[in-house]
Amino acid sequence: MTALITGAARGIGKAIAVRLAKDGFDIAVNDLNEAAFEGSDVIELCESFGVRAERFYANVADSRECEALVKAVAEIFDGIDVLVNNAGITRDGLMARMSDEQYDSVIAVNQKSVFNMMKYAGNLMSRAKKGSIINVSSVAGIYGNPGQMNYAASKAAIIGMTKTAAKELGRRGVTVNAIAPGFIATPMTDKLSEEQKAAMLSQIAMRRYGTPEEVAGAVSFLASADASYITGQIVEISGGLSM
Ligand code: NAI
Repeated sequence: MTALITGAARGIGKAIAVRLAKDGFDIAVNDLNEAAFEGSDVIELCESFGVRAERFYANVADSRECEALVKAVAEIFDGIDVLVNNAGITRDGLMARMSDEQYDSVIAVNQKSVFNMMKYAGNLMSRAKKGSIINVSSVAGIYGNPGQMNYAASKAAIIGMTKTAAKELGRRGVTVNAIAPGFIATPMTDKLSEEQKAAMLSQIAMRRYGTPEEVAGAVSFLASADASYITGQIVEISGGLSM
């Protein structure tokens, strides 16, 4: 069994890769380029569980690179059982000052990538009549977040795309779900100001940030046989951010 995780050299993607390796999956680790893997021990950590792990470079915003990525992974690992669309970026700013470049780049990397990857990997899984796709959305896509018009748009779109793909691929035995993490401590969230961090904490029922490993635990479940009759669902992993 093989799992392909995008944007997995570090952060949440890395934690997902390592957890799925622990679960026994061979792991295809995608990230942007060689530089993204600098200092990353994701391959070694995955291999420590006795599975095969390989790096794949592709910009998931680029449709042709996604097609080539899916083809390469499927050839090397003899198919793809689990796809986790995790790669994502932020280019925050208030709407009034947000440039077209800021808006378009986030939509391309966070949203179009999910279409690109589901199109090609979904085709493959459809033919194999099995597979599981897990898309990484965000609480920002459900509730909105000031300064993240671009990001919230991309993550809200992922919810509609997840449900659409679940409906298109369900009869082929392929499940498609999304997770919506809240405030998870990673290099991405390190960029937030102390003020923003304090404001977030006060809204979280559990009064703490989540860990990448806690996100990976939910992905592990959705990728497992225990979740075989769950599709089109959005699982919020936020310590009770929204209650
Ligand atoms: P991160 O910035 O630590 O890691 C993202 C990875 O994606 C990096 O390794 C980066 O090189 C890679 N990447 C960026 N653009 C890419 C592209 N075009 N093609 C391939 N790879 C690319 O981010 P983090 O925090 O681990 O986030 C992972 C996912 O979780 C993202 O989709 C993010 O939006 C989502 N998320 C994160 C939350 C958090 O609190 N950290 C909360 C909710 C969602």
